[in-house]
Amino acid sequence: MRTYLVTGGAGFIGSNYIHYIFKKYGDEIRVINVDKLTYAGNLENLKDIEDKEGYTFVKADICDAETIDRIFRENDINRVVHFAAESHVDRSIKDPGVFVRTNVLGTLTMLNAARNAWEQEDGSYLPDHKFLHVSTDEVYGSLSNPEDYFYETTKYDPHSPYSASKASSDFMVKAFMDTYGFPANITNCSNNYGPYQFPEKLIPLMIHNALHGKSLPVYGDGMNIRDWLYVEDHCKGIDLVQEKGRLYETYNIGGHNERENITIVKTIISTLRDMLPEDDERRAHITEDLITYVTDRKGHDRRYAIAPDKIKKEVGWYPETCFEDGIRKTIAWYFDHQEWMERVTSGAYQDYYESMYSNR
Ligand code: NAD
Ligand code: DAU
Repeated sequence: MRTYLVTGGAGFIGSNYIHYIFKKYGDEIRVINVDKLTYAGNLENLKDIEDKEGYTFVKADICDAETIDRIFRENDINRVVHFAAESHVDRSIKDPGVFVRTNVLGTLTMLNAARNAWEQEDGSYLPDHKFLHVSTDEVYGSLSNPEDYFYETTKYDPHSPYSASKASSDFMVKAFMDTYGFPANITNCSNNYGPYQFPEKLIPLMIHNALHGKSLPVYGDGMNIRDWLYVEDHCKGIDLVQEKGRLYETYNIGGHNERENITIVKTIISTLRDMLPEDDERRAHITEDLITYVTDRKGHDRRYAIAPDKIKKEVGWYPETCFEDGIRKTIAWYFDHQEWMERVTSGAYQDYYESMYSNR
């Protein structure tokens, strides 16, 4: 039986991933979810499995070496999937410190703990024990030539405090592989969207604002490009890399689904109008008049685009969900989970929104 230690499992991708592996492997696996429950962590995302046999939640900080070591000592963990991070670029611009602490030092704590638990006296590692570090395409910087794509060989060139911290964490994982032969993989993925995403990120923020008749804040000229991937496809890619990929390798995960931000916002408007019942009052105010161009993000990367050739060739992964289906599924999920949205946007979220957008 495999035992997973998933960090950041109460966040957006982590909670989707836990659902994905339980759906795929059922009772064949155990999952220990370690999460500090920051503003981005929400146990409601895992409500349907909280009592499931084989699932354990531990509220802990990944920087707390003593607790992380203890979890390794008390459990025969043979898979680590490391999601826990501060993940929002705008927050990193306001306050870089916590990004270095969690993303860099937290990753080092996880690596030290796994190495202590798995390395044998002769320097080899327990067989079939693996660590997967979940990272981002933002480490590669911004593409200016429309013909260019991010490959695994693309030079790192991070610009924001967030991407600099993720790049540092990637380098630490690479250092452990190169120095200690530590059994790991890195995945660098493009922008995810789907259920349980916190509404500070573009897609859920626009859905939430549109449904409440609030303006839709588009940074700069709205022509920045991101490569959007439905979150379940990302989860599937992570699992395939860990089970079928070559150890020590990096794999880029992305959708060949590049869109300008303004196109995303207009698609959300038209899809919401299409999906709301004819007699729903909200349809009247959900128009492009809500779009408001606001001051650009500092250091705003222009374009990200992944070439997912290696992961396709080596493990047979490809993005299965086309954007038109994915965005409808996502909006349908937010319709069905309006109480979830109201709960996560009350209280502290209101303060965040004020500080980020009021004078923009
Ligand atoms: P998220 O912000 O939704 O969730 C992060 C989770 O980590 C939360 O549950 C939070 O409570 C937890 N956490 C934060 N600090 C912690 C700490 N010190 N100790 C323990 N837990 C802590 O993030 P996400 O969007 O789900 O991203 C998950 C991972 O995937 C991150 O590493 C991110 O860099 C990477 N990633 C995200 C995307 C994307 O589009 N969202 C794309 C590529 C890679
Ligand atoms: O590329 C992968 C990365 O994608 C992940 O590593 C990050 O964790 C994740 O947050 C995401 O980063 P982005 O900065 O690309 O995502 P965000 O949703 O914040 O913004 C997407 C684009 O939309 C970006 O060009 C900024 C713009 N934007 C964003 C917000 C929140 C707006 O125009 N208005 C907004 O209100």
